[in-house]
Amino acid sequence: MSTVHNLSGRHVVVVGGTSGIGLAVAEHAAAAGARVTVAARTPGRAPALPAGVTAEQVDLTSTDSVEALFDRVGTFDHLVLSAGPGAMGSVRELASTDARTFMDIKFWGYYDAVRAAADRIAEDGSITLLGGGASRKHAPGRPMMAAINAAIEAFGKANAIDLAPVRVNVIAPGLVDTPAYAALPDEMRQGMLAGYAASVPAGRAGLPEDVASAALFLMTNTYVTGTVIDIDGGVQVS
Ligand SMILES: NC(=O)c1ccc[n+]([C@@H]2O[C@H](COP(=O)([O-])OP(=O)(O)OC[C@H]3O[C@@H](n4cnc5c(N)ncnc54)[C@H](OP(=O)(O)O)[C@@H]3O)[C@@H](O)[C@H]2O)c1
Repeated sequence: MSTVHNLSGRHVVVVGGTSGIGLAVAEHAAAAGARVTVAARTPGRAPALPAGVTAEQVDLTSTDSVEALFDRVGTFDHLVLSAGPGAMGSVRELASTDARTFMDIKFWGYYDAVRAAADRIAEDGSITLLGGGASRKHAPGRPMMAAINAAIEAFGKANAIDLAPVRVNVIAPGLVDTPAYAALPDEMRQGMLAGYAASVPAGRAGLPEDVASAALFLMTNTYVTGTVIDIDGGVQVS
């Protein structure tokens, strides 16, 4: 029996697949033989995509845009939702409009995508939602990160029942070095990565490929559903 992930003949859709974790998932899926569709607000900003990967436009804040994406995609096998900004700040600092925008993208956008995918995805397919370890590892300035990622974990588990036999899982990353942090001054970004590395058992921050390998495992292991996988260097036990 081969233990290598094989996605030949499969169609994988990655929303948020033009950057960071989503892009690494798209690259790994294409390398495993899948046809891949990546989608984002500005797909033209993506770096050169490997053979077998095509890009589509979608804005997760618009239900119409999400439904139009899945109308264009048609039937497919695996969905990965890897979009969304962060929203740092205590309730004293984070305006409710900014907190709602975060919820619109990362919760309601995922909701619309799962809803649109439900009748188009193969019965032996899978849905993987990118949550985040802030759901359970609490730290100052993260009430919205905690709330949204906890909601995604619950949403994923509940959908594993409703959408069966389609499998539904959540990946909860710790800190992963992606373009999400590109706007930070370099010194601050390096300090953040070094601080995380010093605080977790694995001794380093994550790379997008660490998460992508978990996403391929979830697509191909047909006995895994309704679970949350922490890919975080051990932050939950630190
Ligand atoms: N990096 C981390 O440390 C970390 C930790 C825990 C959890 N996560 C989670 O992992 C996921 C991916 O994060 P990342 O670091 O890989 O982010 P990233 O590099 O910033 O990539 C985000 C992707 O989402 C797309 N996107 C953003 N807003 C969108 C919208 N409204 N509609 C459609 N697409 C949208 C972006 O493209 P456009 O801008 O062109 O739309 C891009 O393709 C997110 O859910 C994040 O919360 C990340």
